[in-house]
Amino acid sequence: MCGIIGVVGSSDTLETLLEGLARLEYRGYDSAGVALVRPGETWRARTAEGTESVKALREECDLAPLGFSSGIGHTRWATHGGPETMNAHPHLDCSGNIAIIHNGIIENHADLQEQLEARGHVFSSVTDSEVLAHLIEESRANGFELIEAVRRSLLVVRGAFAVAAMDATEPDVIVAARRISPLIVGTAPGVTYLASDIPAILDRATAFYAVSDDEIVRLAPEGFRAIDLEGVPVHLHPLAVDWDLETAEKGGHDDFMTKEINEQPDAIRTTLLDRRRRDGTITFDELRVSDEELRDVRRVVIVAAGTSHHAGLVAKYAIERWARVSVEVDIASEYRYRDPIVEIGTLVIGISQSGETIDTIQAIREAKRRGARVIAVTNIVDSSLARESDAVIYTRAGLEVSVASTKVFLAQVAALELLALRLAQLRDTVPASDVDAHFLGLNAVAEQVATVLTRRSSVEDVAKQLLGARDFFFLGRHVGFPTALEGALKLKELSYLHAEGYPAGELKHGPLALIEPGVVVVAVVTDPAMHEKMLSNLAEVKARGATVVAVATDDDESIAAIADYVLRVPATEPMFSPMVDVVPLQLFAYAMARGLGRNIDRPRNLAKTVTVE
Ligand code: M6R
Repeated sequence: MCGIIGVVGSSDTLETLLEGLARLEYRGYDSAGVALVRPGETWRARTAEGTESVKALREECDLAPLGFSSGIGHTRWATHGGPETMNAHPHLDCSGNIAIIHNGIIENHADLQEQLEARGHVFSSVTDSEVLAHLIEESRANGFELIEAVRRSLLVVRGAFAVAAMDATEPDVIVAARRISPLIVGTAPGVTYLASDIPAILDRATAFYAVSDDEIVRLAPEGFRAIDLEGVPVHLHPLAVDWDLETAEKGGHDDFMTKEINEQPDAIRTTLLDRRRRDGTITFDELRVSDEELRDVRRVVIVAAGTSHHAGLVAKYAIERWARVSVEVDIASEYRYRDPIVEIGTLVIGISQSGETIDTIQAIREAKRRGARVIAVTNIVDSSLARESDAVIYTRAGLEVSVASTKVFLAQVAALELLALRLAQLRDTVPASDVDAHFLGLNAVAEQVATVLTRRSSVEDVAKQLLGARDFFFLGRHVGFPTALEGALKLKELSYLHAEGYPAGELKHGPLALIEPGVVVVAVVTDPAMHEKMLSNLAEVKARGATVVAVATDDDESIAAIADYVLRVPATEPMFSPMVDVVPLQLFAYAMARGLGRNIDRPRNLAKTVTVE
């Protein structure tokens, strides 16, 4: 998730930008840059030094000329194009007068770039963002003022954006706009700011305003005005901000975990952006494995740890169902020590949020040593896992700070299910119309997750009733099983309570002996095909005195007769349900941990990234 900042009318432009970028550090970045604009002159500095980029940028800016009262700045979290200086923002148009920064993904950038190049534009990066600079350049050349040039450009782009543009031929104006990616405006006497988040401008602006989707704002020293995509004037909503810096970094929430749980709909949306061509082909720009190799895969082995392992278990169901390839899912720390079999046609998928988990890296090294092709699914561009694999698919969930993984799990499942659909297309195992329907279904999940997030207080009410419980069993069948495992892991690591995840059918093979009054059974009961069987499992535990909490769909009338508490979710295609059903389980674990006074973002004994075996 890139960070953006802009200022017009300042006597302290460069320092405002550099300080703001440093305060956006928590969003994560691999490169940084600023552009300063005054009549007839645009000055730019960019660095790509990983987490040292903002520091390096400050040194570069020692060379900046004085006397610029307007500028924009950017920290980049690479998606299209590697983390190199040429891909760092701001990007310029052909004339060098127009500078733009962008957070998000322009889905149709390839088509637009082709058209722009045909009209003579020269590109100097391999990003999706640069098309914006050239589109704005064309409208400016046709005589439109900057706000109209930006509006016209946005009419032809698809995707997500928080964008800001400046032009040395219309100085002391910034035009900014958003769709999906965050953007706020701030004001102080004689100075106007923009940023992706409050912390960047917290100490400088005295009033804050939210920019909504498809709104365009023209910032000048004396204030701002906003229009929608049709050019109709709109009012920005004022934001009441009485936060300190720490609260601001958490988006006004008590902890990063809440912020990250709330970011889940966007984590899915951005992970799915730009993944389907107009002809319906599922595509991964960053996947450097040929279609032939993918078509010829005979066996898939998934290696991962913790939450990423649970995402891998969901992927097994999707790949086997849709692509008809057999999938084995292994705990990464076990894989390399069991003399694994790698035959011709074995594809190994290493899944890791951080891309630095030593167990997963060692597992893929072992797989490569034995001749497997390896795909990484990771959230961190250029992480060790990404570098050491033959190919990579990035989840685009943005930086995850809380030790308990939440939004990345949803992004991993979305990315892996897309991969399953791509394999199905290549192997011709699912009719094209069904692939299309699944893709649409996958895209609808973000909205369903957003619905579950509005029900937080009903989950908290259930947690309050169960604060005294000490033993929990999480049950599910089919993809409800990995969902149950993930629910149990969240409860364990956050609340330090004993929790186990089980396939519901396995209960009577042993664990049923542990069920007695006081034990809580949390069951995922959302799959119609598994419903009857799940109800009979629940009858078994009820008969032995357990308290039952069910995750059930809105239309499930029968569940209330057997469950003590019901956590409702919208019905979704069962294959996608882990992304929806896990959300009340995350909220439940969170509420239990809060109730027990645990440290939410930093549970005891745990590290965010495990780099020792
Ligand atoms: O960065 P990774 O996805 O490789 O991390 C794997 C596990 O360490 C991680 O998922 C861990 O289990 C989390 N604390 C779960 O919330």
